[in-house]
Amino acid sequence: MSAVSVVLATGNPGKVKEMQALLAPLGYRVRPQSEFEFEQPPETGDTFIENAIIKARAAAAATGLPAIADDSGLEVAALGGAPGVRSARYSGEHGNDAANNAALLKALEGQRRRQARFRCVCVCLRHAADPAPLIAQGVWPGRIMTELQGLDGFGYDPLFQPAGLNCSAAELSPEEKNRRSHRGQAVQALVTQLRIEPLQSS
Ligand code: IMP
Repeated sequence: MSAVSVVLATGNPGKVKEMQALLAPLGYRVRPQSEFEFEQPPETGDTFIENAIIKARAAAAATGLPAIADDSGLEVAALGGAPGVRSARYSGEHGNDAANNAALLKALEGQRRRQARFRCVCVCLRHAADPAPLIAQGVWPGRIMTELQGLDGFGYDPLFQPAGLNCSAAELSPEEKNRRSHRGQAVQALVTQLRIEPLQSS
């Protein structure tokens, strides 16, 4: 049986790798949106769910394929849940991991309360006008360290110490991170829904 193609609505190569590893065993061919040319919609939602749907809808409309998108972020207890949906642009510059990590360390300077969690919402739209998107969530609890540690992963990984581990998320192998992470959990939950309602090839 040939694989069903799905477009993955993200420009983040780290996420593409993670998603491909998680969805390939189910027979889906995950195609990054970089294979196609279309304008990225502004992420104007106030919630992870809204932003994930905005991204998936734009990708489905542009490609004619079913689309999966995630929206994720870091929620820090002492910062009232910030940076949250603004995680990618916390320092003011979209996608600058080094600047975002520096801004987070500064915001938590002298702060002893360092609990945090990653949250991920994953959606799947069968087509751009799908009135019933599949929606799944995952959370990964931990704490924010006082120094960067580790070289793998992306985003806030070098500052995030997952609960129950004595290292940062940037020190985990991709497989180990997928098994535990908010995105791994959200994708697994989406996979459960896709088993009940598989995507059809067009
Ligand atoms: P998104 O691409 O709009 O979902 O933005 C998510 C942002 O949250 C990323 O740019 C990272 O700053 C942060 N983030 C989400 N997931 C992770 C993760 O697994 N590790 C580290 N940072 C993450």
